[in-house]
Parts: sequence; C-alpha cells; structure tokens
Amino acid sequence: MHITRRHFVGGAGLAALAVQFPSLALARQGSFIDLVAGPSQQAIFQPDGPASDLWTYNGSAPGPEIRVRRDERVRVRLTNNLEEPTSLHWHGIRIDNAMDGVAGLTQEPIEPGESFEYDFVAPDAGTYWYHAHNKSWNQVARGLYGPLIVDEDEVPFDRAHDLTLVIDDWRLAGEGTLDVASLGSLMDWSHDGRLGNWLTVNGRAMPVNMLNAGEPYRLRLINASNARILEIDPNRFDAKVIAYDGQALPEPVRLTYAPLMVGPAQRVDLLIVPQAGSDFVIEELSGDTPFAFAGFEVRGETADGPGVPSLPVNDLPEPELAGARTVRVEMTGGAMGNIGRVTYNGKVLEGSDFRDTGQVWAFNGIANLPETPLYSAQRGETIVIETVNNTAFVHAMHVHGHHFRVIERSGSEIDVGQPWRDTFLVGPQQTTRIAFVADNPGKWLYHCHMLEHAAGGMNTWFEVT
Ligand code: C2O
Ligand code: CU
Repeated sequence: MHITRRHFVGGAGLAALAVQFPSLALARQGSFIDLVAGPSQQAIFQPDGPASDLWTYNGSAPGPEIRVRRDERVRVRLTNNLEEPTSLHWHGIRIDNAMDGVAGLTQEPIEPGESFEYDFVAPDAGTYWYHAHNKSWNQVARGLYGPLIVDEDEVPFDRAHDLTLVIDDWRLAGEGTLDVASLGSLMDWSHDGRLGNWLTVNGRAMPVNMLNAGEPYRLRLINASNARILEIDPNRFDAKVIAYDGQALPEPVRLTYAPLMVGPAQRVDLLIVPQAGSDFVIEELSGDTPFAFAGFEVRGETADGPGVPSLPVNDLPEPELAGARTVRVEMTGGAMGNIGRVTYNGKVLEGSDFRDTGQVWAFNGIANLPETPLYSAQRGETIVIETVNNTAFVHAMHVHGHHFRVIERSGSEIDVGQPWRDTFLVGPQQTTRIAFVADNPGKWLYHCHMLEHAAGGMNTWFEVT
C-alpha cells in the first residue's frame, strides 16, 4: 500500500465520506482527573485499517479533552504504565512552576508504575494542550498528548458550536501503521525534525462534521505534530482568526496573507459562519498538492442566525520596552550548518568528539540544558529575547510559563497588534525579537518545539526570582 499525503474528495462530495467527526472523551470527576499513560492500539490510517501500537493517555490519542474553568483548581493524577519514565507538561498555561511538568528541571521523572499529582490553576481562558515532557520526541510521536480547554467565565460558544481539532502528523510505514523503526533517526534530528506522511484530526483521518448554516462556530486547531508546520488558508473557507496560542484577539481578524503557518505546538482558533450549500474542507498546503484533513458539511438554510459572540481578552502584563534587558540567543548547528566548539554537559567539545554525543544543535554554543540559566530575571522585569537563527532550518521556539509579543522580525512583517503567543516560528537566517514580563517565579524552559531539535540540543532555561 502506498501512502501519499493526499486525500481525494471526489465528485460525490463530503457526504460520501460520512465519517463522523470524533468528539473527544471528557475527563472529569468534579475537579479530579485521572490520566493513565500506557500502551494501546489504535487505527490511525483508516478506521478499518491496521492498528498501530501507540502510547496514549486513557487509551486513545489524543487523550481526553480536559475542560476547566478559568481560575478553577484542577487536580490531575498521572499514572505511568509505560516502560520508561515520563512527565506531563501543560503547554501554554502560566502555571505554578512546580506543576510545569518538565522532567529534570521542575520535577523528577515519574518512573514506570509510579504516579504524580498535578495541582494547578489556569489563569487564562483559551485553547491549550498537554503532552509528555520526557523524551518528548519519542513519547509525543507515539501519541502522548491531549487538549486542555480553559473556559471563559461566561462561555461564548455552546458545546455544539465549539469544536476542538487536535491535528497530528504521523509517519506511517507501508502497511499503514506507525513507523516506530525510524524514531530517533539522526537524519530527522539534524534536518526538519520528524515529518510524517499522514494527518489525523482527533485520531481520525479526514473526519467530516455537520454545521448549521448561518450559525457561528469556534474551531480550535491544535498542532500536536512533532515537527510539521501546518500551512492553512482560512480565507479559502471564509474563516477569521479569533485567538492564537490560547489568547483571544481583541476582535476577529481576516488574514491578508496566506498561508497561515501553524507551527508545532501552536494553536489557532477560527471563527466561521457557514453559508448554506458551502460544504468545505480544511487543507494543509505545504506539500505539492493540498492535503484535505477535515471536512464540513453545511446543512439547512442560512436564516438570520444568532449574533457572533465575542471572546474576552485575558489580562496579561504588558512588556515595558524602554530600558528592557535584551538577551541574545544564537542558534547554530544542524545539517548544512556550522557549529564549531560546543559545550555539552559541562565539557567543551569539537568535531567528532561533539558529533559522538548525538547532539546536533546549540544555543550560544551550548547544546542542551546548561548548569546555569541563560539569564536570571527579577520578578516583574521585562525581557526581550533576540533569537538569531544561524541555521538552515525553521524553528518553533517556545517559552514556558509566559506569553510574549513578537515585536520584530527581520525580513518579514509581524502581525498587526502583535498578538500574544507562547510559540513562534523563526526562519533560516532570520532574527526575531520577543518581549514579555518575567513575572512567574521558577525555572522555565526556552526550547525548539520541533521535538527532535529540542532533543538534539535546542534547549535552554531561564530563571525568575
Ligand atoms: Cu509544549 Cu516544553 O513544551
Ligand atoms: Cu528547531
């Protein structure tokens, strides 16, 4: 069987596909949630196709949708039934540092057979996700992730009009099962990361959902891929952007450029009011031909629908750029890149001595976590991080525990209004400046969310005291 990055939507239209849009199991017992990480089987190529051996939370990838209210206390017990240590990170949440779930920095890894209780409050409404944060390149690729939705104080879209789409890019082998043999390939680590050949939404290939004409819907897109940048054009289906990385925009935005690049770990919330008879698909546009990965069938007539709800904007501390400290991070390494002398685990290495470590990337000449932080900020201080990409690849840089604004990007425009983000893309030979108030005490990662790049050295940390 040959797997192509292509899904044909034939003349019979979407109805012929008739695959229901999989809704996600909800994880709730009051404010206590039990998650079990363990092996399970799932057909990701086609529902009636062969099952892959995955690692999942509570038996499916994605794991259950965790929905909480803003400012509500959440307790999650994670039990590790895997054969290797794990930990759980709440991506994009401005969380209490001890609950950030970074094995080796904020907690000890959870050993097989053990459990850990996460206990936190999510201060911002919006679209987030959770994923494994120990050997993420391996654990996330096998299915250890799920959506985390934080509801506004007054929920703007009811459940029928609020759809979560957790998108994953899988690498399937010839028979349509997860290609496990290629996990950890040095080729992936030193190039674009692990790119797949098959997209799923909520664990299913090309699901189709029904929408009512004239009614407003919120589509929450979460890119759970290890390394794939999803290229999407919301104008093709007349959608506006209402939030990035969980943070609502002051008002819906119709993009004036295409495509929208949704990097690994990034989220985008779209607003759509479908018109009668306008069935549509969402396509990923980075390949030679568009890859349709989600379909929508529109039923009914467009009447005078309900008004479009507006999203409240979260209250984040505004960076003060005047006199702010700038921290420079120079990225080097990877294929076709120069790296020179690198410090790794406290040793200065060069040439084959460095290559033998399996590390391939560095920030400021240091591969992976240094003993001392990149910088130590006083609580409340504005920090500007200037990231200089001296590599031949795009990277998806993520700051833990804080949202930031992209204030400058060499060679390309930045988004109007400088929306809050927790992950940004930086192109080859590009420099990007982000700014934020370091107001969350603790030890926080700054790393590439192309998980093979992080494992291969693109990882550092800072401290807020
Ligand atoms: Cu989404 Cu350090 O992670
Ligand atoms: Cu990267």
